[in-house]
Order: sequence, then structure tokens, then C-alpha cells
Amino acid sequence: MSQYKGFYKKSIAERLEILKRDRHINPDYFGSLPASTYNNMIENAITTFELPMGVSPNYCINGRQIVIPMVTEEPSVIAASSNAANIIKQNGGFTSSVISRVMRGEIAFVNPNNPQAIQDFIETHQEALFDNAHQAHPSIIKRGGGVQSITTRHITKDDNTLVIVDVLVDTQEAMGANMINTILESLRTLIETNTQEHALMAILTNNTPECLVHAHCTLDPSTLKFSDTIGQKITEASLLSKLDPFRTATHNKGIMNGVDAILIATGNDWRAVNAGIYSYHSRNGQLEPFTTWSLNDEGMICGETTLPLALGSVGGSIGLNPKVKLAYEILGFHDVKSLMECIACVALAQNFAAIYALTTDGIQKGHMALHARNLALKAGAKPTEVEALVHLLLKQPHLNSDTAKACLEQLKATHSS
Ligand code: HMG
Repeated sequence: MSQYKGFYKKSIAERLEILKRDRHINPDYFGSLPASTYNNMIENAITTFELPMGVSPNYCINGRQIVIPMVTEEPSVIAASSNAANIIKQNGGFTSSVISRVMRGEIAFVNPNNPQAIQDFIETHQEALFDNAHQAHPSIIKRGGGVQSITTRHITKDDNTLVIVDVLVDTQEAMGANMINTILESLRTLIETNTQEHALMAILTNNTPECLVHAHCTLDPSTLKFSDTIGQKITEASLLSKLDPFRTATHNKGIMNGVDAILIATGNDWRAVNAGIYSYHSRNGQLEPFTTWSLNDEGMICGETTLPLALGSVGGSIGLNPKVKLAYEILGFHDVKSLMECIACVALAQNFAAIYALTTDGIQKGHMALHARNLALKAGAKPTEVEALVHLLLKQPHLNSDTAKACLEQLKATHSS
């Protein structure tokens, strides 16, 4: 039996004991972010802002057992992720692989005097451009990365002509925002000097279609509730998310519950990743669902996702925040491609949990059980009383603090009599 069975019913201390047995956990990483650090991370700092950090065990990804660290304020996200990961593990787990991992930046010329001259310069001075870029950030070459291509793109609309110089960079383990911007600004000067044109700006893009990861899983309906109809219902939920824009938004929001939770835990720029995912999945002119579910010829439920994930495992605030270091210890690795694979699987799991609940019992049944737990704690139940109080609360017609307090009194009275 998995050591994580019933993990959520344990105390925090017991959970940490289980984690310590299974993962390397450095006690130093439980400390808070010191003022000397956070004062240099942002401007006008006054304190830190806490959010709960939890773990979602049960992930089996490419045959590897993984515990996912998650930071979220929303109840049921971690329960749902763990529940789905467990079900998917019993069905063989997830398979995930990185398709490509290259970042992109752009130098934009708006209505230049001679658009062709910019294009000609780029095409005929590739060696000088590559040299210039790598001199601007030499360490990336030592790490095995560097600029992969420098090309031009033209946009014409009404009376406007834009020439965009696209620079693709292999940033290795870093997300690479500073690296790319340094390279772009250096290239900008070289191009401006040689073409006598002035660029409007030089900046990385968060639209990252060259930074893609794919994940899929297959489930046997006989392992699920309502096994006769569940396959059909899951595929209908997928169809609904594709055809109804109001459902697309909610379907995707549920996925981002999990994706953002691990992005935050691992110190990644979740705004950048969100921008990339939404851009990629709107590339055909309409927002599409980030996951799809279908039935294969054997009647198995197949889920898949392709996500652009412009992540880093080094750089930015990653090395500064002890809790981020803790997150990597829990994950058990520190490389960006494995992280991309994990996040794509979290996306699938999170979505599966939501649509499985929505197409069977409804979302409220599970939420009410969790809400009852919160109410029990707020009513003042001791850890030993929580389970019994939750059980009693779920039998009540209305769940609120007054009911919780009354039920707790009732429970105490029964025990003392
Ligand atoms: P259940 O089947 O009643 O739970 O599900 P269970 O008591 O049989 O436990 C099964 C497993 O779930 C456990 O395994 C845990 O892994 C996990 P075990 O440890 O026993 O081997 N689990 C928990 N983990 C941590 N804390 C808990 C907990 N309870 C169970 N308290 C559950 C109950 C809530 C998990 C299920 O109903 C569920 O997955 N519901 C979906 C909830 C959800 O998706 N929430 C996300 C936020 S809402 C959202 O995303 C917005 C939405 O609009 C998105 C959309 O529309 O697509 C829904």
C-alpha cells in the first residue's frame, strides 16, 4: 500500500515524517524569506505574504514516482490533483515528453524607411549577428546553449509596415528573460548602426510556441465510477469545452489551478507562463481547451495536452527563496525539462479530477466534504474530533459555522455522557 494513502488525514508533523522518509527534505528550507533577501527581490518591500504550501503525492510520470509541491489558496485543488493522479497511476500513469525548448525575443521596427534593408542586413550578416549576440552573453555558450536563429518577419496592415527581427535562443536551464533581453539590446544597436533605422523596442516574447511539452494518459472506464457511461461523458465534457466559449474559460481555469500552484512553488514566473499558454491556445483565432479527451478503439479514455511552458529551474528568485529549494527537493530533481513534463501532467490530472466530478456526482459533493473540514476546525474541533464532526456535519441540511458549533457541542456532550 502506498505510504501516501490517507496522507491528508495525518497531522502536519506526520506528513512531514512521511515526506522525510520518501524524499530528501532539508530542514533549513522551512525558514522564511529573510528581510535581507526580500528587500533586494522587489522594491519598497515591507514584509512577506504567506500562502499555504502542500504536496500532491501519487504522480507516476514516465515510470517515475513523483510528489508535486503546490502553493495555492484554493481548497480542493490539491485533493483533486492527488485523487486524479492516484486514479491515473492505477491506469499506468502519465507519459510526457518535451517537444522543443527554445525561447524567443523580438526587435521591432515600426514603419522603417527601408524595410528591405533591415531584412537584407539580417540575411547577409548572420555570422556578425551571432558573434555579437554571444559576446553580449558569453556564459550561455559555455553552458551549451546560445542563439539558434535570427530571422525577419514582416507585418503589413493598413498603411503600416512592421519589420520584426525574431531571435530564437536556447537558454538551457534558465527561463532566460534577462539573457534574451541583453542579447536583443546588443543586436538592436548593431542593426540600427548598420541600417540607420531605429527600432521601437527589443524584448523577449511570452508567446513561446517553440517551448512545448506534451503529456497523455489512458484510463480504463472499468476503474472509474459509472463505468458504463463515464467514457462517453468525459468525451462530451471535452466536446463542450471545445464548442462553448463559456465552458472553455472554466475548463481552462480549472487546469491553471494546478499549473499555477506548481509554478509558484518552483519559483517560476506564472504570469509569463499563463500568457504563453493562452497565446498558444488562441493561435487559431479562438480560445481552445488546453486538454482533450477521447475514446480509443478499445474504448479507453485518452487524455492529452500540449502546453508551451517557458520555465526555468535556475535564475530569477529560484535560488533565493528557501521554500522554492524545498519544492525542488520534494520533486527530487532540478532540471527544467523534467519540470515541464511534470507540469503538463498536473494540467491533465487537475482537469480530469474536475470533469470526472462534474460528470458524475457534481462538484459540490467533494467540495462540501472539504468545506465541512474547514468548518470543523473553525468551530474549534480538536484534531481527534475533526473526523467525527465532519461525518456529522455532512448529514446536516445546511453547512455553516453555527451548525458546526452546534454539532461540536453535541459531539462533546455525547462523549462526556
Ligand atoms: P473522493 O473520491 O470522495 O475522495 O474525492 P476519497 O475520500 O475517496 O479519496 C480519494 C483520494 O483523493 C485520496 O486518496 C486522496 O489522494 C485524495 P487516499 O489518500 O485515500 O489514498 N483526497 C484528498 N487529498 C487531500 N485532501 C483531502 C482529500 N480528499 C481526498 N481532503 C475529491 C473527493 C474532492 C478529491 C473529488 O471529489 C474531486 O477530485 N473533486 C474535484 C474537485 C476539484 O476539481 N477541485 C478543484 C477546484 S474547483 C475547479 O477547478 C473549478 C472548476 O470549475 C473547473 C472546471 O469546471 O473544470 C471545477
